[in-house]
Amino acid sequence: MESFYIKGGKKLNGEVEVSTSKNALLPILAGSIMCNGTVVLKNCSFYSDVNNMISILNSLGAGTKIENRDLIIQSDLASSYYINEEFTKKVRSSIFMLGPLLSRFKMAKVAYPGGCNIGTRPIDLHIKGLKALNVKIEEKHGYIYCDGRNMKAGIVHLDFPSVGATENLMMASVFLNGTTTIYNAAKEPEIKDLQNFLNAMGAKVYGAGTGTITVFGVDKLTSAEYCAIPDRIVAGTYLIATCMVGGNVKLTNCVAEHNMALILKLKQAGAKIKTSKNNIEIKISKRPKSISKIETQPYPGFPTDLQSQILTLQTISDGTSVIIENLFETRFKIFTELKKMGADISLHDRMAIVNGVEMLSGANVVAPDLRGGVGLVIAGLQADGYTTVNDIYHIDRGYYCLEDDLQKLGAEIKRIKQN
Ligand code: EPZ
Repeated sequence: MESFYIKGGKKLNGEVEVSTSKNALLPILAGSIMCNGTVVLKNCSFYSDVNNMISILNSLGAGTKIENRDLIIQSDLASSYYINEEFTKKVRSSIFMLGPLLSRFKMAKVAYPGGCNIGTRPIDLHIKGLKALNVKIEEKHGYIYCDGRNMKAGIVHLDFPSVGATENLMMASVFLNGTTTIYNAAKEPEIKDLQNFLNAMGAKVYGAGTGTITVFGVDKLTSAEYCAIPDRIVAGTYLIATCMVGGNVKLTNCVAEHNMALILKLKQAGAKIKTSKNNIEIKISKRPKSISKIETQPYPGFPTDLQSQILTLQTISDGTSVIIENLFETRFKIFTELKKMGADISLHDRMAIVNGVEMLSGANVVAPDLRGGVGLVIAGLQADGYTTVNDIYHIDRGYYCLEDDLQKLGAEIKRIKQN
């Protein structure tokens, strides 16, 4: 097993390029199976979740190869619509293979998905939406069997603006004759990126980024070259890390608009932030002020994927902060590990109350999930002494060369093997 070994107390200074977005690449990889040709994803970032999705495409018969940072997918070679649990237990985003498989093969047989232990992660909205398009669905023996031979365009209203369900339904509708409308759709930037990718292959999808998405059916999708948007959660993580220890950091290849909720909160904390077309620059020299209230919401609200990181920042900020997690019921698993490092946090169901302390103390801690894990890395950057963050396979799911980027900015962090 691998761990990060961190010596705290170093400021972060310098410039890093933000990697392409995990949560944009995953649905784009799923959607590539609908193309009757070749898809080239430029400047791809090979997070372990992305590598797991590539394995799923290979298991379906699609060819994939990496040339420099580009991923080439020969989707016309795909011939199967069956994904077994060996693949789906490793990555939750296997669930939005249902839509593309139904579009390509009119059938799908997918084992239940795995993913982070941040909550029950139900899939009822995916199932309900597909049934609204007349997909016949049976759930048995740990598999989801979908028969889409009588699928038809229609109207879907999501009870909650689920990101994955929105993406699944967009992709399930691409070849349906007529017009499909998705109401109460998620508005995340990754949804708009998926729309742009599908349309680059010849689809007719409109409205992503608003609450209503319209899909006009087409006959086929053709080869395309595409580059996904930057990862707003990686960018946000680096902005928070800089506030944690102080410094002057410039992020390139990022979209400030995608991080507006965070940027406004960090300005409240005392950070000086300048934004331009593709860059964000942050400067902070004093101890951050506590942010009185942070509440996670669907986009454009404060992202749940930055909750662990901003919670960690509050543990050393000056004052008291209240953090409310509305999206996932068990996304406070980092709590026990931060307490080991001297944080003053109390939990009340989905609310954490944090009284800032001057300095955390280095400790041996365990990453509970992807974003909780990176929160502990951020804690280690500030803590007095040494911190070992274990089970960093969680972190590798959503950060591509994290230690290289942080070392480049001056952090003392290294990856070690533990037997
Ligand atoms: C996506 O997960 C992201 N993952 C998550 O990022 C992110 O936290 C989440 O959206 C919210 O922004 C990917 O894009 C691969 P949802 P997803 O469906 O699609 C409930 C990370 O750290 N729900 O929008 O699974 C659900 O329980 C990951 O990168 C249902 O009730 O999220 C949750 O409370 C973690 N029924 C809420 O909706 C359903 O059928 C939001 O879930 C589906 C979801």
